[in-house]
Amino acid sequence: MAGWLIREYTQDDLEAVIRVDTESGTTGEPPLFQLSDAVAALQAAHPAVVAVSGDEVVGAAVGRVEGDRAWLLRICMAPAWRHMGMGSALVTALEDRLLASGVRAVHAVLPEGETGATALLNCGYEAREGLVFFERRGPVTAEAIGLLSSLGAELPPGGLWQKVAGMRREKEIIERRLVLPLAHPELASQHGVEPPRAVMLFGPPGTGKSTFAHAIASRLGWPFLELFPARLAAEYGLAAGLSRRFDEIGRLDHVLVFIDEVEEVAAARSGADPTSVGVVNELLKAIVRFRGQDGRLLVCATNNVTILDPAFLRHGRFDYVLPIGPPDRVARVALWESYLAKAGAEADGEALADASEGFTPADIAHAGRTVSQAQFERTFDTGTRSRPTTADYLATIRTTQPTVSPAMTQEFTEQTERFARL
Ligand SMILES: Nc1ncnc2c1ncn2[C@@H]1O[C@H](COP(=O)(O)OP(=O)(O)OP(=O)(O)O)[C@@H](O)[C@H]1O
Ligand SMILES: [Mg+2]
Repeated sequence: MAGWLIREYTQDDLEAVIRVDTESGTTGEPPLFQLSDAVAALQAAHPAVVAVSGDEVVGAAVGRVEGDRAWLLRICMAPAWRHMGMGSALVTALEDRLLASGVRAVHAVLPEGETGATALLNCGYEAREGLVFFERRGPVTAEAIGLLSSLGAELPPGGLWQKVAGMRREKEIIERRLVLPLAHPELASQHGVEPPRAVMLFGPPGTGKSTFAHAIASRLGWPFLELFPARLAAEYGLAAGLSRRFDEIGRLDHVLVFIDEVEEVAAARSGADPTSVGVVNELLKAIVRFRGQDGRLLVCATNNVTILDPAFLRHGRFDYVLPIGPPDRVARVALWESYLAKAGAEADGEALADASEGFTPADIAHAGRTVSQAQFERTFDTGTRSRPTTADYLATIRTTQPTVSPAMTQEFTEQTERFARL
């Protein structure tokens, strides 16, 4: 076999280096640095060399400089060129360039016995026995990020869970039934607990269903992906769109999928309308497939649980059917206190909670905002800082129409008895 030459890497070599790298491994152990790390270093013009035989790239070594240190990200060779000293030649050539650029130490981490290990030993590298490599991976891998953003998913900021004021009962149930088994799947499975895969939230408008969905994703550190049936329908037709989107979701590691106003796609199948039958069937199938994979949660929300197709609520589709009602007194106090603090108000949260029975979090947010805006305008007009009082809030509460009427509260209580599964 002819000999080889070592030369500087150029951008035209990229494809060949990737090809050599994929056939180079001998141990089957994944390397510390992923191929994407090596490609990123090559594209950022960190030092790298290739071995060529004729016109063909048959080996490569890729470095990455960090201050006065450098990592050997890759030492790879085509299989036919092993055991001929090429590894040592690549390491030496790359090392020359690294040292010339001011590097004082070069590190490499390889699976035991991997291609390149002998070369490092031959070049005088010292193997540090007894070091243990610790690793903790974030829930979102670099590869997943591209897919996530193409699907319109977002990584919710941390701390949303803590920002859900009050709602102690709902939070406790969600924390224990959903978050704990998903965050600790191994411990759960030792107890025969299967992590939940799908949950239905129902309740009157503005009670915080969407807020909870975001907060659960934030609590788990998972990406949040909302499906908009109307958009899917416009693009592909609803049934096909759902099926296609759930296939794509299947390629993600971790994700919380949210469908708001799910009654629009999951209303009872009426024999007369074959399209709606197809859609409901497709969604049911998608949920069954979705349930087959770890690390994901489907959250659906509805204001009208009574019109959902009964097949949805059957066991085996949704693990829990949770009522999210108007906040109780404790929750209203907590909600008021949070707005009072933001407004710098000197007002009695307990009194406001008493006066706002039947208010949803959205109603309280609206009343709080109305008072803040009025005070802001007053400060602006008078030039002296004005602080809202209990009387200001009570006046606004009296003129606010609560979203949830007594009749709706009654309905919600009945629905909770009929549909809730905790
Ligand atoms: N527990 C809470 N603490 C603080 N703010 C809340 C809470 N719950 C809801 N909110 C606020 O109230 C508003 C309405 O909440 P959200 O949109 O989650 O309600 P929803 O049940 O999804 O309503 P809809 O049925 O209309 O979709 C939002 O601005 C949200 O930030
Ligand atoms: Mg909502």
